[in-house]
Amino acid sequence: MKKLYGIMFLLALALVVSACSSESSGSDGDSDSGESAKEVEIFSWWTGAGEEDGLLALIDLFEEEHPDIAVENAAVAGGAGTNAKAVLATRMQGDDPPSTFQVHGGDELNEGWVAADKMQPLNDFYEENGWMDKFPQELIDLVSKDGNIYSVPVNIHRGNVMFYNMQVFEDNGIEVPTTFDEFFEVADELKAAGIDPLALGDKESWTATQIFENVLLGVLGPDDYKKLFEGEIGFDDERVVEATEKFGKMLDYVNEDHVSRNWQDSGQLVANGDAAMINMGDWAKGYFANDLELETNKDFGYFEFPATDGEFVVITDTFGLPKGIDNPDDVKKFLSVLGSVEGQDAFNPLKGSIPARVDADESNYDQYGKDTMADFQEARLVPSLAHGSAASEGFLTKVNQAVNIFVTQRDVDAFVQALESAAPEM
Ligand code: GAL
Repeated sequence: MKKLYGIMFLLALALVVSACSSESSGSDGDSDSGESAKEVEIFSWWTGAGEEDGLLALIDLFEEEHPDIAVENAAVAGGAGTNAKAVLATRMQGDDPPSTFQVHGGDELNEGWVAADKMQPLNDFYEENGWMDKFPQELIDLVSKDGNIYSVPVNIHRGNVMFYNMQVFEDNGIEVPTTFDEFFEVADELKAAGIDPLALGDKESWTATQIFENVLLGVLGPDDYKKLFEGEIGFDDERVVEATEKFGKMLDYVNEDHVSRNWQDSGQLVANGDAAMINMGDWAKGYFANDLELETNKDFGYFEFPATDGEFVVITDTFGLPKGIDNPDDVKKFLSVLGSVEGQDAFNPLKGSIPARVDADESNYDQYGKDTMADFQEARLVPSLAHGSAASEGFLTKVNQAVNIFVTQRDVDAFVQALESAAPEM
């Protein structure tokens, strides 16, 4: 069922967005013309502040190691792949795959491109590189289907993080909230002091979906959160209603102009003290530290999203080998660099994520990175819905639409019903 919906969704997406394809690289026409193209086209949504620094460092490293292979950086802007995923779908359906592309481990990869028979297995490649014990088993499982491995994880991002402006907290005598009740208490205090408690930029609705998934995790706990997305608990469960009410209450504390901001713009509100907190995956750490030059644990601090202490929403960006590409050996060279200790340590300190490998060099990471590595070892790991791991792309699209409507209308029943009717696509 999941597979069928995944394929139907990809086909529909491809039809709808064919007009967007001009944004991606135009190199393929030429490279098909005879001379063996020594070019690797890397497709992602990492453009601009907070997104591309890590990728550019990785590309530099690859070019140093393989000066004979040209790189085409075919990134399409838009957080969480809002536009890139649509462009990719068009290209894949038109048998014009990029050499390699960003894809989240979990359903986005396995029930999407692998189920559609568009990816090559990488088991031998993992063996050749000696990687079988270099990535945590949970991650290998997230990029595997029916015993085959289909991509290489470059990182682990955490989704249930609240970043906050330390000066604002200090000036207002605010303690880090650990429960929903504490969150609402401090939010009231901040609001009374004229500060927006929670920054939101939902120009693209995934940012609000991410808040909702964290509230769900806080209310259901890790076991039942997973059961929900495995279809073992229905969306008619009363805790889903409770989570939706809490989500709505949190939205009472966001900046008024949230619809006109993207995630970076909303992060700026926290950076400059107009807002106190933001729930964002830790790509925001990369943005704060590298692009805005803020200091970790001085200018901004971090804590787990309320009621999710000891839990870790896993988001992993991975790259695989599509079927039908001209130069798989060159692409594998890129994947080897991406999966190496050096590659991961070039990429992750800039991206804000931790390395996917178990043996990367901790000294390259700041206190946030070190804390997150330790948490990853000990925490209960759960997959992200907003970032493609927990459910199919078709289901996620419907949730994003429902969230978008909920943010303005706040109709709890309508929202829960929308989730229920999308559930068969999960
Ligand atoms: C996520 C992705 C991250 C980051 C973020 C914002 O889906 O995994 O690497 O790019 O979107 O665009």
